[in-house]
Amino acid sequence: MKQKRVHIVTMGCQMNVYDSEQMLRLLAPLNYRPTSQQDKADLILLNTCSIREKAEHKVYSFLGRLVRMKRLRPDLILGVGGCVAQQEGYRLVKRAPHIDIVFGTFALGRLPSLVRQVEDQKKQIVDVDPRGASEPLCVKGPVFAAGRATAFVTIMQGCDHFCTYCVVPYVRGREVSRRPEEILEEIRLLVENGIREVTLIGQNVNAYGQKNGHGCDFPALLERVNDIEGLRRIRFTTSHPKDLSDRLIEAFRRLDKLAPHIHLPVQSGSDRVLRLMNRGYSRDYYLKKVAKLRNVRPDIAITSDIIVGFSGEEKVDFEATVDLVRQVGFDSLFLFKYSDRPNVPAAKFSNKVPEALKGERFSTLLEVQGGVTLKKNKALVGTTQEVLVEGLSKKSPNQLTGRTPCNKIANFTDGALGMARVGRILPVRIVEAFSHSLLGHPVGKGHGEYPGKNGGMSHAA
Ligand code: SAH
Ligand code: SF4
Ligand code: F3S
Repeated sequence: MKQKRVHIVTMGCQMNVYDSEQMLRLLAPLNYRPTSQQDKADLILLNTCSIREKAEHKVYSFLGRLVRMKRLRPDLILGVGGCVAQQEGYRLVKRAPHIDIVFGTFALGRLPSLVRQVEDQKKQIVDVDPRGASEPLCVKGPVFAAGRATAFVTIMQGCDHFCTYCVVPYVRGREVSRRPEEILEEIRLLVENGIREVTLIGQNVNAYGQKNGHGCDFPALLERVNDIEGLRRIRFTTSHPKDLSDRLIEAFRRLDKLAPHIHLPVQSGSDRVLRLMNRGYSRDYYLKKVAKLRNVRPDIAITSDIIVGFSGEEKVDFEATVDLVRQVGFDSLFLFKYSDRPNVPAAKFSNKVPEALKGERFSTLLEVQGGVTLKKNKALVGTTQEVLVEGLSKKSPNQLTGRTPCNKIANFTDGALGMARVGRILPVRIVEAFSHSLLGHPVGKGHGEYPGKNGGMSHAA
């Protein structure tokens, strides 16, 4: 069979990063191998995100750039998957008729048969059928771990929360958890291939196992992952504050591999806005959770997401958010300007905040948090941090880069060893701190084994 090339462009969150690897696994039996060069590809797949309007615009501008390429190479197959595909379905091909396949999030497992149909019959296909939504996908196949130390592992899909601004429950469906045995097997295989840190991902990992009857909830799953030999660090994201149980908080005390960092999106510091968003907790509740976490693990880094300019957000509400940000002292924040999405309840809310005011509020919070982040990072100067080496720094290729337990990026120079260090945990003395990273020098000999014995590529049974 002819060797073919697939190029995947991934937009959006970690769930999409994981799904793109699933796509590669699914297409391997059809003789597709990954390529980073778009113009060498026989198949181009775009894995899309719909979380904000800007993300959706990115999809259309990318597709626009491909019109010419498709005209010059009519055999090129162009597929669009992910959340915009699920949301738009047939509307996508109407707007961009050069697309061959639209495959929604529920059609991921059917990708090979869709590609085959286009190869054989040269027809245009749209599959946004939600069938298969109750069965989380588990694809066995090549492990793409060469030269890497960290990996994402999806443990659950979808979300039952229905925050009034959010498309996720519509484009990803309701919560479904994978079986614990499957997850553990996947992590063991990753570890055999050199992975030292896994991030367990889902839109609301705290709800893992709650309705699937697998007899294993999230703290229990963490405990089982913690027992995997050769794995050095565990992270997870995202946690909904409402489902953050005391047992999960306790896990930060008990589990030695669980890294001291939690991403706990608060969205707003105003009770009124939190109610409008249907978040299901109050400001006070959130602050109490933060206090509990810090009580259990004083060094824990806490990061968060905030939406500014949600419809109905008044000056006092925004001030309450600024006050909460100051009070908590987050290690870092992801800030978003509220963006109307199709069919979500908040799209119909009145009292929209003007774009200019959203911009102002965004800048104010950015500045407040910028100061806090820098202060927190500077406090690390002079300390020694255990850095898991991930590879060469993108900005300065003569430096290695990795992350501290608290998930801060640390860059350092380390003689001639270069990439051989990937997958090791090295003690690094921090000498300088910036807003987005730390700079240091390795101290002592370092420890940890070398990654993958077979170069990072293997096949699951
Ligand atoms: N499941 C995660 C969030 C996933 S989306 C959670 O509940 O925490 C990531 C972030 O995008 C959200 O936390 C929110 O801050 C932001 N977001 C989601 N919908 C948005 C919208 N319509 N406009 C602006 N930001 C949005
Ligand atoms: Fe969206 Fe809310 Fe679910 Fe997060 S918890 S994915 S913000 S609906
Ligand atoms: Fe975007 Fe879909 Fe993730 S909307 S944030 S890619 S779940």
